[in-house]
Amino acid sequence: MRCEILTLFPDLVQPVVGQSMLKRAQEKGLLSVTVRNLRDFTQDRHHVADDAPYGGGAGMVMKAEPFFQAVEALQREYGPGSSLRLVMPSPQGCPFSQRLAENLAHERRPLVFLCGHYEGIDERVRVGLQPEEISIGDYVLTGGELAALVMIDAAIRLIPGVLGDPESAHADSFMDSLLDYPHYTRPADVRGLNVPEVLVSGNHEAVRRWRRKAALRNTYLKRPDLLRDRELSAEDRGLLNEISSEPGVAAQCGEEG
Ligand SMILES: C[S@@+](CC[C@H](N)C(=O)[O-])C[C@H]1O[C@@H](n2cnc3c(N)ncnc32)[C@H](O)[C@@H]1O
Repeated sequence: MRCEILTLFPDLVQPVVGQSMLKRAQEKGLLSVTVRNLRDFTQDRHHVADDAPYGGGAGMVMKAEPFFQAVEALQREYGPGSSLRLVMPSPQGCPFSQRLAENLAHERRPLVFLCGHYEGIDERVRVGLQPEEISIGDYVLTGGELAALVMIDAAIRLIPGVLGDPESAHADSFMDSLLDYPHYTRPADVRGLNVPEVLVSGNHEAVRRWRRKAALRNTYLKRPDLLRDRELSAEDRGLLNEISSEPGVAAQCGEEG
């Protein structure tokens, strides 16, 4: 996966890119991330990349031209035949999801993240470059950098070879439209709270069934919406019946949760 991050705040991005799984993915040659300072694509002496909004009002707006210049420079750099996938993090975009993360993970084109700040980016960037607008949630961030990093982080763990054990991504929440099952590690007793016995039984089938049921229970309690339009296997239907008749079981998050 090749990522280009266009930003006015490279220092916000660089430290994250050099840590943890992003660092490992780059070391393994499975990811490249280049951070480009939009000021380098300004034309004036003072490298101004933002200005007051037409029509008046609060805040500043990021100028269009540095984005056009930066994308054109990348097009030249990657070669005339190569196409770029432009992503504009925006609270107005399509909701980011595990499915979209998988889609980004499989993308062969360089991903170019156009990060806004202040009141946002001059609308002519959206109209002229036609990027995909993607939102990471119904709230407003200060800038697109954290959103771009969230998307890259979610995508890279789905690239084969990035995680030590690819199985760990398969069981993750949302991969199978279910939430993950609970995890435990040593010691077996933490302040009187014990590991479920089945997990130390050595019975692989019993462990598999326990985890499946626990994933279904988590989903039933925390995100019942995920179960609504899902086709269930006979085993899942049986397990859900058992869960719904457990004493004290009630969804923790309703429709609005
Ligand atoms: C303060 S926001 C601008 C919000 C804009 N005035 C609006 O209400 O639609 C500045 C930048 O943060 C990023 N951003 C904010 N919230 C986001 C979200 N939920 N998802 C993705 N990017 C977001 C975008 O890059 C945006 O241009």
